Amino acid sequence: MDESGKIACLICCICFILPTILIPIGLCLQSIKPRCYINDFYAPALNTHIPSNATSSNTFIFFDLQLRNMMEENSLRYGDLNLTLFYGPDGNIPVANYTVPGFKQGKKNTNDWRDVVETHGLPWNDAIKAVSNGSKVVFRADLVADVKLKQMFWSKKKKMVLKATVEVDGSGEKVHGKPIRLKSFAS
Ligand SMILES: *[C@@H]1O[C@H](CO)[C@@H](O)[C@H](O)[C@H]1NC(C)=O
Ligand SMILES: *[C@@H]1O[C@H](CO)[C@@H](O)[C@H](O)[C@H]1NC(C)=O
Ligand SMILES: *[C@@H]1O[C@H](CO)[C@@H](O)[C@H](O)[C@H]1NC(C)=O
Ligand SMILES: *[C@@H]1O[C@H](CO)[C@@H](O)[C@H](O)[C@H]1NC(C)=O
Repeated sequence: MDESGKIACLICCICFILPTILIPIGLCLQSIKPRCYINDFYAPALNTHIPSNATSSNTFIFFDLQLRNMMEENSLRYGDLNLTLFYGPDGNIPVANYTVPGFKQGKKNTNDWRDVVETHGLPWNDAIKAVSNGSKVVFRADLVADVKLKQMFWSKKKKMVLKATVEVDGSGEKVHGKPIRLKSFAS
């Protein structure tokens, strides 16, 4: 092979072969996991500033769930998002389910769900007693969903399992004003 042949070969290698190897590797290493936050969490029954008889039968929880696709280049395709709320220090009493039907999320996009769920099986009287004397009660939020990153010729699918602990006091709201980030548990 003469000099120009070698150069042509090198250019070909740099321009075509390397990218086809490196781009998928780069994308595989890149975390497709979106970031998820609970921005608001409010249980009116636990708001001790409202006369209790009016609210002890209010079994609803209001929340604001946010999901951010951090990737500049790729949109994401989600299966159903399943959010489950648990109650108790061990987080072992399931009290509410919430499902968002599957959807597509554009690059660098953020989706927000402000909604309300009706709880079942939450020992409200115990919870009200606890917050009334200054204690906090603990909820746990689990979010499970399949996430897919789709390119022209390939796609990558992951099961996303995120969890967060939410402490609530006598204001009925989550204790810390800041959004609570759900952390990856297993995938
Ligand atoms: C609240 O409920 C208790 C018993 O459930 C009752 O004794 C009390 O009078 C009620 N208070 C108000 C303001 O309705
Ligand atoms: C949540 O969903 C599961 C399964 O779909 C169901 O068994 C459970 O009763 C639901 N829990 C509540 C609190 O609605
Ligand atoms: C709250 O009440 C429980 C009993 O119901 C008691 O053990 C606890 O010490 C009380 N906490 C405060 C801060 O008063
Ligand atoms: C979400 O919940 C539905 C109904 O319970 C279930 O069929 C589906 O597999 C769940 N999705 C995931 C990712 O676990």
